[in-house]
Amino acid sequence: MSCEIQQIDPQAPAPEAFTRAATILRAGGLVVFPTETVYGLGANALDETAVARIFAAKGRPARNPLIVHVADLTDARKLAADWPDVAQRLAERFWPGPLTLVVPKQACVPDLVTAGGPTVALRIPAHPVALALLRACGLPLAGPSANRSTSLSPTRAEHVLRGLADRIDLLLDAGPTTGGLESTVVDVTTQPPRLLRPGLVTTTELEAVVGPLGQPGSDGGPLRSPGLLDRHYAPRTPLEVMQDSHERVQELSGQGRRVGWMTHRHEPNPPASVLRIAMPADAVKYAERLYAVLHDLDDVGLDRIIVEAPPANAAWLAVSDRLRRASAEEG
Ligand code: TXA
Ligand code: MG
Repeated sequence: MSCEIQQIDPQAPAPEAFTRAATILRAGGLVVFPTETVYGLGANALDETAVARIFAAKGRPARNPLIVHVADLTDARKLAADWPDVAQRLAERFWPGPLTLVVPKQACVPDLVTAGGPTVALRIPAHPVALALLRACGLPLAGPSANRSTSLSPTRAEHVLRGLADRIDLLLDAGPTTGGLESTVVDVTTQPPRLLRPGLVTTTELEAVVGPLGQPGSDGGPLRSPGLLDRHYAPRTPLEVMQDSHERVQELSGQGRRVGWMTHRHEPNPPASVLRIAMPADAVKYAERLYAVLHDLDDVGLDRIIVEAPPANAAWLAVSDRLRRASAEEG
């Protein structure tokens, strides 16, 4: 059985287009919605039973907390027990946008959302459909990426359907998302704030607002973002990331393996058996395409995906992070 699918024009979403979605959400159902990063699997964040359905649909371990999406700053502050000055400055600069702030949680936020922890992750998405949905339902929406746990995040409706078609109530299809990678997650409960997950807002942009960031675990404490679990965001096809990838591509194709090759450089022509994807040399454009390319290559049924390592600088941090997780051994 497949879910209901509703097409929505992202340029001009009519308010009445959200009546059905809002009804489902208020009744504790699951609605997949587009954001500027990836599609999210939404449920009423204040309804523990609805949130439990998210974990079940994704096959997500209960120790991995969820991001809560809100329509505006007032709604964000209602869910936070404390709102540090750093949170205010980051919110003013980057919201709506692909930045998630981890703050102390208010008692009304169910423990299931925060994996039993004292903090909640909040963001205001910069997508007209997501914002209109949040306003129409009048609820904060817990919304992890709309994929089965550890697999690739969805940037198109068809990606969502691959993993979740029979596990959700409604899918709002507004076409491909433009950001392509998940939001940056920053913990503002520590001084200095710490980067928990690199994302579309770069560390350079963050540090321009709040000064140098701390590193996760650098205070000797445990890693506080379970999204830092190693294997994540992974295609089914084994994937390797390396410098001078053309040599590895030659070697594998010489062994008769079917290889997909993602490179942002000009390279000599590969053997005919190799499926080469010319990736953008610009980090933002690369991020936008990354998951869609990986989803497509996964469908081809290759033996291996070889990725030329991106440059080692702040602009590429999020892309490098997702590639590293995509290539990590299953643990
Ligand atoms: O762009 C995005 O962030 C997308 C869209 C749909 O908004 N959402 C997303 O959610 O990527 P998810 O659940 O796939 O990733 C949430 C990340 C995980 O790394 C999780 O561990 C972390 O945020 N997180 C959530 N709540 C947290 C908390 N209270 N403390 C630390 N990390 C938290
Ligand atoms: Mg995810």
